[in-house]
Amino acid sequence: MAASRPGAGQTALITGASYGIGVDLATCFAADGYDLVLSARSAAPLQEVAARLAAEHGVAAAAVPNDLGVIGGGRALVDAIAARGLTLDVLVNNAGYGHAGAFTSAGLDTQLGMIDLNVRALVELTQLLWDGMAARRRGGVLNVASTAAFQPGPFMAVYYASKAFVLSFSEALWEEARGSGLKVSCLCPGPTASRFRERAGTDKTRLASASPVAPSMPVARAGYRGWQENRRVVITGARNRVMAELAQVMPRRAVLRMVRHLQTPVGS
Ligand SMILES: NC(=O)c1ccc[n+]([C@@H]2O[C@H](COP(=O)([O-])OP(=O)(O)OC[C@H]3O[C@@H](n4cnc5c(N)ncnc54)[C@H](OP(=O)(O)O)[C@@H]3O)[C@@H](O)[C@H]2O)c1
Repeated sequence: MAASRPGAGQTALITGASYGIGVDLATCFAADGYDLVLSARSAAPLQEVAARLAAEHGVAAAAVPNDLGVIGGGRALVDAIAARGLTLDVLVNNAGYGHAGAFTSAGLDTQLGMIDLNVRALVELTQLLWDGMAARRRGGVLNVASTAAFQPGPFMAVYYASKAFVLSFSEALWEEARGSGLKVSCLCPGPTASRFRERAGTDKTRLASASPVAPSMPVARAGYRGWQENRRVVITGARNRVMAELAQVMPRRAVLRMVRHLQTPVGS
């Protein structure tokens, strides 16, 4: 049975696979027969997810705990995976966090840490794995950005900017990959049920009270399918797609005012 599955004989690395969207992305890859390498900082939930998905889907699944927020975290992860004798065909850059609030409401550790994880580690992993994947002419990269990528985000400025980077970088690589056998997609979810909102503090904003929160599995499924079809950008949810389109055609000042309004806590 395994040989008929699209991922048979291939291995996917999914970062941020201990909780949230990453667990469901890992489930999508496992269901199609990909062996898994799962990474995040929290070893125990990671191992639980790896053991469960291996048993449910008949794939190999390794848990490799690692902090991608430290400088060199991507290199350390790639070295730890290579030390296990594993070769990667697919990279899913999903690990990320946000912080809601005025620019200086969080310290530099939080703001720069966001860039280190959401941007720096994503580029590092992609750079370290790209040539190997290209040499095998299969697999590719699925990056998780956000609908935040489509406009600047007053009161969540660094997070929005980090995701704009991810979108721009992914689209450029999609074009570079043309004819190489590699697939590149950028998944842009809107508000999604996970631990993200709690960590980011976005649950008190007008955006949070005005927007429906999607369950994480349909979001992951859309990203996985989009990547299999080599779709450049996958925005989940009709409402999110309309908002992303609107942000491209509305005057920039109006977009900034609208996002400022939406990112402000209810009642303030
Ligand atoms: N949920 C949303 O509303 C939403 C919307 C748009 C985009 N996104 C994006 O979706 C992605 C997944 O987020 P999520 O919603 O699933 O949030 P989540 O439930 O908080 O999961 C984040 C994952 O990233 C891992 N992670 C955090 N810091 C890390 C670090 N320093 N090193 C390695 N791994 C780290 C976490 O595991 P550990 O804590 O164990 O390390 C966890 O597995 C993120 O890139 C996020 O920006 C989320």
